[in-house]
Amino acid sequence: MRIVQLSDPHIVPAAQQPVHGQDTLERLRAAVNAVNQLSPSPDLVVMTGDQINDGTEASYRAVKDVLTPLRFPCHMAMGNHDYRPVFRRVMLEEPEAASAPYYYALDRSGHRIIVLDTQDEGEVSGRLEDDQLDWLERELSSGLPSVICMHHPPVPVGVAWMDELILLDNARFLRICAAADTLHLILCGHVHHDFRMDLGHATVLTAPSVGLQFRKDPVIRPDGSRVIATDEPAAFRIVDIDGPRWKTSIHHLSL
Ligand SMILES: [Fe+2]
Ligand SMILES: [Fe+2]
Repeated sequence: MRIVQLSDPHIVPAAQQPVHGQDTLERLRAAVNAVNQLSPSPDLVVMTGDQINDGTEASYRAVKDVLTPLRFPCHMAMGNHDYRPVFRRVMLEEPEAASAPYYYALDRSGHRIIVLDTQDEGEVSGRLEDDQLDWLERELSSGLPSVICMHHPPVPVGVAWMDELILLDNARFLRICAAADTLHLILCGHVHHDFRMDLGHATVLTAPSVGLQFRKDPVIRPDGSRVIATDEPAAFRIVDIDGPRWKTSIHHLSL
């Protein structure tokens, strides 16, 4: 099974581009083209959060528009920049603008894909409430080889400013993962960088952003504000999974 992970596109409408100096809309459009031409084709695409930069309806409509030519099913996780009520109304076409967490699981080619919602509304860091962790525990007991997709990394990545902003209060999450020997991969976004952390039988991978990359060492301006973005090109992760075995690569775009 092949998964393409498009993470952190941080879309705003064309008239409001760029975002941190990059045209994130053009970059996502280029990524969709590249994904459509991959061989072998992906079975599915996951977008691991921060689909939009500003929580507005216009931005989600721009995401929807850019994704229209994508030839594969696309599943999304909530990031800290997402806004559930607008996401639900525009992207899921739900009649009510509900703010309930958006988490779900799907089975593909004998694997279970579990998509978590780590958004802690109003915070940059992430959190998982007990209801969702109870559900996760049940989903991981299926016996199928499993992959978790979530925005916030559940463990430190080794960069101080990023590690203040990952999944907080992760103890129960880690206990659940440790008990699930069918869990092999945890795919995350949020840090706009490619990191790998080993958690016993599972591996945590973070992805570069398909919109803009972050610096490990932010530049501090004279006024004290931080420059966190770089001008490196957009990129996405490809993961090929066969039961407990997997391999991965990063696909770099030219813009
Ligand atoms: Fe992000
Ligand atoms: Fe984020």
